[in-house]
Amino acid sequence: MDGWPPRFAYEALPMRVVMRPGAVAEVPAETDRLGLRRVLVLSTPGRAATAERVAGALGERCVGVHADAVAHVPAAAARTAVGTARDAGADGCVAVGGGSAIGLGKAVARELDVPVIAVPTTYAGSEMTPVWGITGEEGKRTGRDPRVLPAGVVYDPELTLDLPPGVSGVSGLNALAHAVEALYAPDASPIVSLMAAEGVRALAGALPSVVADPGSLEARGRAQYGAWLCGACLGATTMGLHHKLCHVLGGSFGLPHAATHAVLLPHVLAYNAPETPYAMNVLRGALGDDDPVRGLRALGAAVGAPAGLGALGLRRADVDAAAREAAAAPYANPRPAGAVEVRELLLAALDG
Ligand SMILES: NC(=O)c1ccc[n+]([C@@H]2O[C@H](COP(=O)([O-])OP(=O)(O)OC[C@H]3O[C@@H](n4cnc5c(N)ncnc54)[C@H](O)[C@@H]3O)[C@@H](O)[C@H]2O)c1
Repeated sequence: MDGWPPRFAYEALPMRVVMRPGAVAEVPAETDRLGLRRVLVLSTPGRAATAERVAGALGERCVGVHADAVAHVPAAAARTAVGTARDAGADGCVAVGGGSAIGLGKAVARELDVPVIAVPTTYAGSEMTPVWGITGEEGKRTGRDPRVLPAGVVYDPELTLDLPPGVSGVSGLNALAHAVEALYAPDASPIVSLMAAEGVRALAGALPSVVADPGSLEARGRAQYGAWLCGACLGATTMGLHHKLCHVLGGSFGLPHAATHAVLLPHVLAYNAPETPYAMNVLRGALGDDDPVRGLRALGAAVGAPAGLGALGLRRADVDAAAREAAAAPYANPRPAGAVEVRELLLAALDG
Protein backbone atom coordinates (compact mmCIF):
# COMPACT_ATOMS: atom_id res chain seq x y z
CA MET A 1 0.00 0.00 0.00
CA ASP A 2 1.54 3.26 -1.12
CA GLY A 3 0.66 6.72 0.20
CA TRP A 4 -2.32 8.45 1.81
CA PRO A 5 -5.29 8.36 1.88
CA PRO A 6 -5.44 4.53 2.09
CA ARG A 7 -7.12 2.72 -0.77
CA PHE A 8 -7.91 -0.95 -0.24
CA ALA A 9 -10.54 -3.67 0.00
CA TYR A 10 -10.05 -6.31 2.70
CA GLU A 11 -11.97 -9.50 3.33
CA ALA A 12 -10.99 -11.66 6.31
CA LEU A 13 -10.76 -15.38 5.67
CA PRO A 14 -12.09 -17.61 8.42
CA MET A 15 -9.00 -18.73 10.29
CA ARG A 16 -8.85 -21.12 13.22
CA VAL A 17 -5.32 -21.81 14.36
CA VAL A 18 -3.97 -23.68 17.35
CA MET A 19 -0.22 -23.28 17.86
CA ARG A 20 1.93 -24.68 20.67
CA PRO A 21 4.50 -27.41 21.28
CA GLY A 22 2.51 -30.63 21.63
CA ALA A 23 -0.53 -29.18 19.82
CA VAL A 24 -0.87 -32.36 17.73
CA ALA A 25 -2.71 -33.76 20.76
CA GLU A 26 -5.48 -31.25 19.96
CA VAL A 27 -6.42 -32.87 16.63
CA PRO A 28 -9.20 -35.05 18.15
CA ALA A 29 -10.70 -31.98 19.85
CA GLU A 30 -10.55 -30.09 16.55
CA THR A 31 -12.41 -32.88 14.74
CA ASP A 32 -15.01 -32.94 17.55
CA ARG A 33 -15.44 -29.18 17.26
CA LEU A 34 -16.42 -29.71 13.61
CA GLY A 35 -18.67 -32.66 14.50
CA LEU A 36 -16.59 -35.09 12.43
CA ARG A 37 -17.04 -38.79 13.17
CA ARG A 38 -15.27 -40.54 10.24
CA VAL A 39 -11.97 -38.91 9.41
CA LEU A 40 -9.39 -40.03 6.84
CA VAL A 41 -5.79 -39.12 7.70
CA LEU A 42 -3.57 -38.16 4.73
CA SER A 43 0.21 -37.82 4.44
CA THR A 44 3.17 -38.46 2.16
CA PRO A 45 4.91 -41.82 2.67
CA GLY A 46 7.67 -39.95 4.54
CA ARG A 47 5.25 -38.64 7.20
CA ALA A 48 3.37 -41.95 7.59
CA ALA A 49 4.57 -42.49 11.16
CA THR A 50 3.21 -39.09 12.25
CA ALA A 51 -0.03 -39.79 10.38
CA GLU A 52 -0.36 -43.12 12.22
CA ARG A 53 0.22 -41.32 15.51
CA VAL A 54 -2.57 -38.86 14.70
CA ALA A 55 -4.81 -41.76 13.65
CA GLY A 56 -4.11 -43.49 16.95
CA ALA A 57 -5.09 -40.38 18.88
CA LEU A 58 -8.29 -40.06 16.84
CA GLY A 59 -9.26 -43.63 17.77
CA GLU A 60 -12.73 -44.57 16.49
CA ARG A 61 -13.10 -41.22 14.74
CA CYS A 62 -10.48 -42.37 12.20
CA VAL A 63 -11.52 -44.50 9.20
CA GLY A 64 -8.00 -44.96 7.84
CA VAL A 65 -4.59 -43.60 6.91
CA HIS A 66 -3.80 -42.84 3.28
CA ALA A 67 -0.05 -42.15 3.15
CA ASP A 68 0.28 -41.83 -0.62
CA ALA A 69 0.46 -38.07 -1.17
CA VAL A 70 3.06 -36.98 -3.75
CA ALA A 71 4.34 -33.63 -4.96
CA HIS A 72 2.03 -31.32 -6.96
CA VAL A 73 -1.12 -33.49 -6.47
CA PRO A 74 -1.16 -35.60 -9.66
CA ALA A 75 -4.75 -36.09 -10.87
CA ALA A 76 -4.46 -39.89 -10.53
CA ALA A 77 -3.30 -39.60 -6.90
CA ALA A 78 -6.19 -37.24 -6.18
CA ARG A 79 -8.68 -39.68 -7.73
CA THR A 80 -7.33 -42.53 -5.59
CA ALA A 81 -7.53 -40.49 -2.39
CA VAL A 82 -11.05 -39.30 -3.19
CA GLY A 83 -12.08 -42.91 -3.89
CA THR A 84 -10.56 -44.09 -0.60
CA ALA A 85 -12.34 -41.33 1.31
CA ARG A 86 -15.66 -42.02 -0.43
CA ASP A 87 -15.43 -45.80 0.09
CA ALA A 88 -14.65 -45.28 3.78
CA GLY A 89 -17.59 -42.90 4.16
CA ALA A 90 -15.23 -40.17 5.39
CA ASP A 91 -16.92 -36.98 6.59
CA GLY A 92 -13.63 -35.07 6.74
CA CYS A 93 -9.89 -35.47 6.53
CA VAL A 94 -6.79 -34.55 8.45
CA ALA A 95 -3.76 -33.72 6.28
CA VAL A 96 -0.44 -34.21 8.08
CA GLY A 97 2.63 -32.84 6.29
CA GLY A 98 3.70 -30.17 3.84
CA GLY A 99 2.00 -28.70 0.81
CA SER A 100 1.78 -32.09 -0.90
CA ALA A 101 -0.29 -33.76 1.84
CA ILE A 102 -2.38 -30.64 2.41
CA GLY A 103 -2.89 -30.30 -1.35
CA LEU A 104 -4.26 -33.85 -1.43
CA GLY A 105 -6.56 -32.99 1.48
CA LYS A 106 -7.83 -30.02 -0.51
CA ALA A 107 -8.53 -32.27 -3.51
CA VAL A 108 -10.67 -34.52 -1.28
CA ALA A 109 -12.39 -31.51 0.31
CA ARG A 110 -13.23 -30.04 -3.07
CA GLU A 111 -14.55 -33.26 -4.58
CA LEU A 112 -16.53 -34.56 -1.59
CA ASP A 113 -17.39 -31.20 0.00
CA VAL A 114 -15.98 -32.25 3.40
CA PRO A 115 -13.77 -30.17 5.72
CA VAL A 116 -10.03 -30.63 6.01
CA ILE A 117 -7.93 -30.07 9.13
CA ALA A 118 -4.28 -29.33 8.43
CA VAL A 119 -1.32 -30.32 10.58
CA PRO A 120 1.62 -28.64 8.79
CA THR A 121 5.14 -30.05 9.09
CA THR A 122 6.92 -27.67 6.66
CA TYR A 123 6.78 -23.89 6.23
CA ALA A 124 5.11 -23.83 2.77
CA GLY A 125 1.85 -22.18 3.92
CA SER A 126 -0.80 -24.10 1.97
CA GLU A 127 -2.79 -24.62 5.19
CA MET A 128 -3.74 -20.93 5.27
CA THR A 129 -5.08 -20.64 1.73
CA PRO A 130 -8.22 -21.47 -0.27
CA VAL A 131 -5.95 -22.29 -3.24
CA TRP A 132 -6.04 -25.81 -4.68
CA GLY A 133 -3.80 -27.35 -7.35
CA ILE A 134 -4.03 -30.50 -9.47
CA THR A 135 -1.45 -31.69 -12.00
CA GLY A 136 -2.78 -33.41 -15.11
CA GLU A 137 -1.36 -34.11 -18.55
CA GLU A 138 -1.92 -30.47 -19.50
CA GLY A 139 0.19 -29.24 -16.56
CA LYS A 140 -0.73 -27.89 -13.14
CA ARG A 141 -4.11 -26.18 -12.73
CA THR A 142 -4.84 -24.05 -9.69
CA GLY A 143 -7.90 -22.24 -8.46
CA ARG A 144 -9.57 -20.75 -5.40
CA ASP A 145 -12.43 -22.39 -3.57
CA PRO A 146 -13.44 -21.47 -0.03
CA ARG A 147 -14.33 -25.13 0.66
CA VAL A 148 -10.66 -26.16 0.52
CA LEU A 149 -9.48 -23.62 3.11
CA PRO A 150 -8.69 -25.83 6.11
CA ALA A 151 -11.39 -25.53 8.79
CA GLY A 152 -8.74 -25.89 11.48
CA VAL A 153 -4.95 -25.67 11.51
CA VAL A 154 -2.89 -27.32 14.22
CA TYR A 155 0.68 -26.01 14.34
CA ASP A 156 3.00 -28.09 16.49
CA PRO A 157 6.66 -27.02 16.16
CA GLU A 158 7.75 -30.40 17.55
CA LEU A 159 6.55 -31.97 14.27
CA THR A 160 9.08 -29.85 12.36
CA LEU A 161 12.12 -30.88 14.40
CA ASP A 162 13.12 -33.56 11.90
CA LEU A 163 12.66 -31.41 8.81
CA PRO A 164 16.27 -31.47 7.53
CA PRO A 165 18.12 -28.13 7.92
CA GLY A 166 18.61 -27.69 4.15
CA VAL A 167 14.91 -28.29 3.49
CA SER A 168 13.91 -26.07 6.42
CA GLY A 169 15.86 -23.11 5.05
CA VAL A 170 14.37 -23.17 1.57
CA SER A 171 10.91 -24.00 2.91
CA GLY A 172 11.11 -20.91 5.11
CA LEU A 173 12.19 -18.78 2.14
CA ASN A 174 9.20 -20.19 0.23
CA ALA A 175 6.99 -18.79 3.01
CA LEU A 176 8.85 -15.49 3.04
CA ALA A 177 8.16 -15.08 -0.69
CA HIS A 178 4.40 -15.05 0.02
CA ALA A 179 4.86 -12.06 2.31
CA VAL A 180 7.10 -10.20 -0.14
CA GLU A 181 4.58 -10.50 -2.97
CA ALA A 182 1.66 -9.68 -0.63
CA LEU A 183 3.30 -6.30 0.06
CA TYR A 184 2.99 -5.26 -3.58
CA ALA A 185 -0.11 -7.26 -4.52
CA PRO A 186 -2.97 -5.45 -6.30
CA ASP A 187 -5.20 -6.45 -3.37
CA ALA A 188 -2.67 -5.51 -0.66
CA SER A 189 -4.17 -4.08 2.51
CA PRO A 190 -2.85 -2.66 5.79
CA ILE A 191 -3.65 -5.76 7.89
CA VAL A 192 -2.03 -8.12 5.40
CA SER A 193 1.01 -5.82 5.20
CA LEU A 194 1.37 -5.95 8.99
CA MET A 195 1.23 -9.74 8.86
CA ALA A 196 3.78 -9.72 6.03
CA ALA A 197 6.24 -7.51 7.90
CA GLU A 198 5.97 -9.57 11.08
CA GLY A 199 6.19 -12.83 9.12
CA VAL A 200 9.37 -11.73 7.32
CA ARG A 201 10.88 -10.48 10.59
CA ALA A 202 10.15 -13.77 12.36
CA LEU A 203 11.47 -15.96 9.54
CA ALA A 204 14.57 -13.86 8.90
CA GLY A 205 15.39 -14.09 12.59
CA ALA A 206 14.58 -17.78 12.97
CA LEU A 207 15.85 -19.52 9.83
CA PRO A 208 19.62 -19.16 10.40
CA SER A 209 19.08 -20.52 13.94
CA VAL A 210 16.95 -23.40 12.64
CA VAL A 211 19.72 -24.37 10.22
CA ALA A 212 22.48 -23.97 12.83
CA ASP A 213 20.54 -25.81 15.52
CA PRO A 214 17.69 -27.84 13.95
CA GLY A 215 16.69 -29.27 17.35
CA SER A 216 15.94 -25.83 18.84
CA LEU A 217 12.25 -25.73 19.64
CA GLU A 218 12.48 -22.00 20.15
CA ALA A 219 13.86 -21.40 16.64
CA ARG A 220 11.40 -23.90 15.16
CA GLY A 221 8.49 -22.22 16.90
CA ARG A 222 9.56 -18.78 15.70
CA ALA A 223 9.93 -20.07 12.12
CA GLN A 224 6.50 -21.71 12.29
CA TYR A 225 4.96 -18.50 13.63
CA GLY A 226 6.47 -16.60 10.68
CA ALA A 227 5.32 -19.28 8.24
CA TRP A 228 1.77 -19.00 9.58
CA LEU A 229 1.69 -15.24 9.00
CA CYS A 230 3.23 -15.56 5.54
CA GLY A 231 0.78 -18.34 4.62
CA ALA A 232 -2.08 -16.05 5.66
CA CYS A 233 -0.64 -13.37 3.33
CA LEU A 234 -0.69 -15.89 0.49
CA GLY A 235 -4.31 -16.77 1.24
CA ALA A 236 -5.39 -13.14 1.29
CA THR A 237 -3.72 -11.65 -1.80
CA THR A 238 -2.91 -12.24 -5.47
CA MET A 239 0.68 -13.28 -6.09
CA GLY A 240 2.87 -11.77 -8.83
CA LEU A 241 5.84 -12.49 -11.09
CA HIS A 242 7.76 -14.50 -8.49
CA HIS A 243 5.02 -17.08 -7.88
CA LYS A 244 4.22 -17.19 -11.58
CA LEU A 245 7.83 -18.07 -12.42
CA CYS A 246 8.04 -20.69 -9.66
CA HIS A 247 4.81 -22.25 -10.91
CA VAL A 248 6.18 -22.48 -14.47
CA LEU A 249 9.62 -23.77 -13.42
CA GLY A 250 8.11 -26.38 -11.08
CA GLY A 251 5.17 -27.40 -13.29
CA SER A 252 6.83 -27.51 -16.72
CA PHE A 253 10.53 -27.97 -15.95
CA GLY A 254 10.41 -30.14 -12.83
CA LEU A 255 12.37 -27.81 -10.55
CA PRO A 256 11.93 -28.42 -6.79
CA HIS A 257 9.28 -26.13 -5.33
CA ALA A 258 10.80 -24.57 -2.21
CA ALA A 259 14.39 -24.30 -3.51
CA THR A 260 13.17 -22.53 -6.65
CA HIS A 261 11.44 -19.94 -4.46
CA ALA A 262 14.63 -19.49 -2.46
CA VAL A 263 16.81 -18.89 -5.52
CA LEU A 264 14.45 -16.63 -7.45
CA LEU A 265 13.17 -14.31 -4.74
CA PRO A 266 16.12 -11.83 -4.64
CA HIS A 267 16.14 -11.66 -8.45
CA VAL A 268 12.42 -10.88 -8.67
CA LEU A 269 12.61 -8.35 -5.85
CA ALA A 270 15.52 -6.61 -7.60
CA TYR A 271 13.43 -6.45 -10.78
CA ASN A 272 10.33 -5.11 -9.01
CA ALA A 273 12.17 -2.75 -6.63
CA PRO A 274 11.87 0.43 -8.75
CA GLU A 275 8.05 0.11 -8.77
CA THR A 276 7.56 -0.97 -5.14
CA PRO A 277 8.87 1.71 -2.77
CA TYR A 278 6.39 0.76 -0.02
CA ALA A 279 7.34 -2.94 -0.09
CA MET A 280 11.04 -2.06 -0.13
CA ASN A 281 10.60 0.19 2.86
CA VAL A 282 8.74 -2.45 4.88
CA LEU A 283 11.36 -5.06 3.94
CA ARG A 284 14.22 -2.77 5.00
CA GLY A 285 12.81 -2.82 8.51
CA ALA A 286 11.77 -6.47 8.54
CA LEU A 287 15.07 -7.78 7.14
CA GLY A 288 17.19 -5.25 9.03
CA ASP A 289 19.09 -4.28 5.89
CA ASP A 290 19.05 -0.97 3.98
CA ASP A 291 19.11 -3.02 0.80
CA PRO A 292 16.40 -5.73 1.01
CA VAL A 293 17.75 -7.55 -2.07
CA ARG A 294 21.12 -7.85 -0.38
CA GLY A 295 19.32 -8.88 2.83
CA LEU A 296 17.52 -11.70 1.01
CA ARG A 297 20.74 -12.89 -0.61
CA ALA A 298 22.48 -12.93 2.77
CA LEU A 299 19.59 -14.87 4.30
CA GLY A 300 19.71 -17.39 1.44
CA ALA A 301 23.45 -17.84 1.95
CA ALA A 302 23.00 -18.19 5.72
CA VAL A 303 20.55 -21.07 5.29
CA GLY A 304 22.57 -22.77 2.53
CA ALA A 305 20.10 -22.10 -0.29
CA PRO A 306 21.38 -23.20 -3.73
CA ALA A 307 23.12 -20.45 -5.67
CA GLY A 308 21.31 -20.63 -8.99
CA LEU A 309 18.52 -22.23 -11.02
CA GLY A 310 21.15 -24.21 -12.93
CA ALA A 311 21.95 -26.13 -9.74
CA LEU A 312 18.23 -27.03 -9.55
CA GLY A 313 18.16 -28.50 -13.05
CA LEU A 314 17.23 -25.58 -15.33
CA ARG A 315 19.24 -25.68 -18.55
CA ARG A 316 20.20 -22.58 -20.49
CA ALA A 317 18.33 -24.12 -23.44
CA ASP A 318 15.10 -24.13 -21.36
CA VAL A 319 15.19 -20.42 -20.58
CA ASP A 320 13.46 -19.13 -23.73
CA ALA A 321 10.58 -21.60 -23.40
CA ALA A 322 10.17 -20.83 -19.70
CA ALA A 323 10.13 -17.08 -20.38
CA ARG A 324 7.55 -17.48 -23.14
CA GLU A 325 5.33 -19.65 -20.93
CA ALA A 326 5.54 -17.22 -18.01
CA ALA A 327 4.76 -14.23 -20.21
CA ALA A 328 1.90 -15.94 -22.06
CA ALA A 329 -0.70 -15.80 -19.27
CA PRO A 330 -1.43 -12.47 -17.61
CA TYR A 331 -0.63 -12.05 -13.90
CA ALA A 332 -0.47 -9.18 -11.47
CA ASN A 333 2.93 -7.54 -11.02
CA PRO A 334 3.94 -4.01 -10.07
CA ARG A 335 6.39 -3.83 -12.98
CA PRO A 336 5.29 -5.27 -16.34
CA ALA A 337 7.42 -8.21 -17.44
CA GLY A 338 7.21 -9.64 -20.95
CA ALA A 339 9.15 -12.58 -22.36
CA VAL A 340 12.26 -10.42 -22.95
CA GLU A 341 12.45 -9.17 -19.34
CA VAL A 342 11.65 -12.60 -17.89
CA ARG A 343 14.34 -14.20 -20.05
CA GLU A 344 16.90 -11.73 -18.77
CA LEU A 345 15.84 -12.35 -15.18
CA LEU A 346 16.05 -16.15 -15.58
CA LEU A 347 19.47 -15.91 -17.22
CA ALA A 348 20.70 -13.82 -14.29
CA ALA A 349 19.28 -16.40 -11.86
CA LEU A 350 20.75 -19.37 -13.73
CA ASP A 351 24.16 -19.19 -12.10
CA GLY A 352 23.15 -17.17 -9.04
N1 LIG B 1 -2.17 -24.29 -2.40
C1 LIG B 1 -1.35 -23.49 -1.76
O1 LIG B 1 -1.75 -22.47 -1.22
C2 LIG B 1 0.09 -23.87 -1.65
C3 LIG B 1 0.96 -23.09 -0.89
C4 LIG B 1 2.30 -23.50 -0.78
C5 LIG B 1 2.72 -24.65 -1.42
N2 LIG B 1 1.83 -25.37 -2.16
C6 LIG B 1 2.25 -26.62 -2.83
O2 LIG B 1 2.87 -27.45 -1.87
C7 LIG B 1 3.88 -28.25 -2.47
C8 LIG B 1 5.18 -28.06 -1.74
O3 LIG B 1 5.00 -28.28 -0.36
P1 LIG B 1 6.23 -28.45 0.63
O4 LIG B 1 7.32 -27.55 0.22
O5 LIG B 1 5.68 -28.39 1.99
O6 LIG B 1 6.77 -29.90 0.29
P2 LIG B 1 6.16 -31.38 0.49
O7 LIG B 1 4.86 -31.38 1.16
O8 LIG B 1 6.25 -32.02 -0.87
O9 LIG B 1 7.23 -32.03 1.44
C9 LIG B 1 8.54 -32.26 0.98
C10 LIG B 1 9.08 -33.56 1.55
O10 LIG B 1 9.40 -33.36 2.91
C11 LIG B 1 8.84 -34.39 3.70
N3 LIG B 1 8.51 -33.79 5.00
C12 LIG B 1 7.47 -33.00 5.29
N4 LIG B 1 7.54 -32.62 6.58
C13 LIG B 1 8.65 -33.18 7.10
C14 LIG B 1 9.28 -33.16 8.39
N5 LIG B 1 8.77 -32.44 9.39
N6 LIG B 1 10.42 -33.86 8.56
C15 LIG B 1 10.97 -34.56 7.55
N7 LIG B 1 10.43 -34.61 6.29
C16 LIG B 1 9.28 -33.93 6.09
C17 LIG B 1 7.62 -34.86 2.93
O11 LIG B 1 7.28 -36.20 3.28
C18 LIG B 1 8.08 -34.73 1.50
O12 LIG B 1 8.77 -35.88 1.09
C19 LIG B 1 3.95 -27.80 -3.91
O13 LIG B 1 3.20 -28.69 -4.70
C20 LIG B 1 3.29 -26.43 -3.89
O14 LIG B 1 2.75 -26.07 -5.13
C21 LIG B 1 0.54 -25.02 -2.27
